[in-house]
Amino acid sequence: MIRLLSVVGARPNFMKIAPIVAELKKAELEKAGLKKPGLKKAKNLPAIEHCLVHSGQHYDELLSGNFFADLGLPQPDVNLQVGSGSHAVQTAEIMKRIEPVLLDFKPQMVLVVGDVNSTLAAALTAAKLGIGVAHIEAGLRSFDMTMPEEINRKLTDAVSSLLFVTEQSGVENLKREGVSPEKIFLVGNVMIDSLLQHRELASRSPLLDRLGMRRLGMPRVGTGKNGSSCRDYGVLTLHRPSNVDDPETLDGILRAVSALAADLPVFFPVHPRTRKKIESFGLQRYLARSTETSSNGTRSNRTSSNRRSSDRRSPAERNHAGIVPLDPLGYLDFLSLNDRARIVLTDSGGIQEETTVLGVPCLTLRENTERPATVEHGSNHIVGVDSDRILAAARSILSSPARPPQRPPLWDGNAARRIVAILREHLQHNDSA
Ligand code: UD1
Repeated sequence: MIRLLSVVGARPNFMKIAPIVAELKKAELEKAGLKKPGLKKAKNLPAIEHCLVHSGQHYDELLSGNFFADLGLPQPDVNLQVGSGSHAVQTAEIMKRIEPVLLDFKPQMVLVVGDVNSTLAAALTAAKLGIGVAHIEAGLRSFDMTMPEEINRKLTDAVSSLLFVTEQSGVENLKREGVSPEKIFLVGNVMIDSLLQHRELASRSPLLDRLGMRRLGMPRVGTGKNGSSCRDYGVLTLHRPSNVDDPETLDGILRAVSALAADLPVFFPVHPRTRKKIESFGLQRYLARSTETSSNGTRSNRTSSNRRSSDRRSPAERNHAGIVPLDPLGYLDFLSLNDRARIVLTDSGGIQEETTVLGVPCLTLRENTERPATVEHGSNHIVGVDSDRILAAARSILSSPARPPQRPPLWDGNAARRIVAILREHLQHNDSA
């Protein structure tokens, strides 16, 4: 019997762990003889007992609960309910609360994903208890230590015994840092596993109809890319402290995107932290007066909207210009929105990867990326946060034809299968990692 414990905490973790959980489940069904393929081999494998822990770093339904539902993730076995706090408080609370869980469950290996505070806190606690740590999405480096995620990445990698890497740059970074090559596995990208598994389902989301972007009479599924069934629109996401905590930077970004919104509607699912900052800096003037559409289909007036119930125009049409704010979207709604977008502007890491595979031009509103494969192979452009530069880059993209999507090597939907196979192999041969 192998005992594995996985830790998630914040929104971008959920789509990374979902394919691993599904793969573990599949392996167990095969072992029990309930699935035909690989039956003979599977019977010889040790059983895996898996425990899913949620730190509670993200606790809102819109940032957490909806993702479990959309991704078909089972409810976590344990929720540490740490909630928000300073980095020190959040990290320390997770460490304090996860230690007894690890002592009780006694996993041979702890799996952590991505680069959030929950990732580092769990990895550090496990390593200090002498438990092996497998880091999924290891090796990425922005070389910018002002990013909290860069600190989390480097420290998590330093205490991990297995490092699962999404792109070649990660392998090179780890080797340069002196990690021994037998710990490093280039396996592809679990986030892309989730995207490929859910793309078809996401295309059935009614969101684009609600936003008035689907052309009348066009089916939801099976139509061509970017345009044949949808009007052109853009998507904006912003949450990085360096962008949203500084009033001048946030003002400059919103100014550029609201100028772009005069050319085409730009939808903006607003992270709670960003919403608070927009309000406290008094930047609501950049946002259209919009009826928001949340991922569960409910609508709420969050701005000083004076929408009349008889007004049947879409949020974008009602406002002509201005960025259209939305509540944070669930996984399927957001995937459907990105898949048909003409352009995406973001400071997220994961969205750079998702747009690469979707073939949607992406402007990254940062000075660097830890994911250079998205620039080399994909549709990502690093444009920084200068207002004029953002607008010029966006207009240049809108005036050029969209390029066909290209995928970095191994971003093929099979990363979780490779990871679970390596974990099995490793744990079978090591009593404790
Ligand atoms: C965290 C991750 C970031 C990831 C992002 C995705 C770290 C250091 N940062 O940033 O890498 O890209 O998640 O969203 O781990 N809040 C709510 N409801 C919630 C959670 C948070 O309203 O469920 C608000 C609170 O005001 C909180 C703020 O958002 O203080 C920031 O939350 P936090 O988890 O600290 O970081 P994120 O900015 O979400």
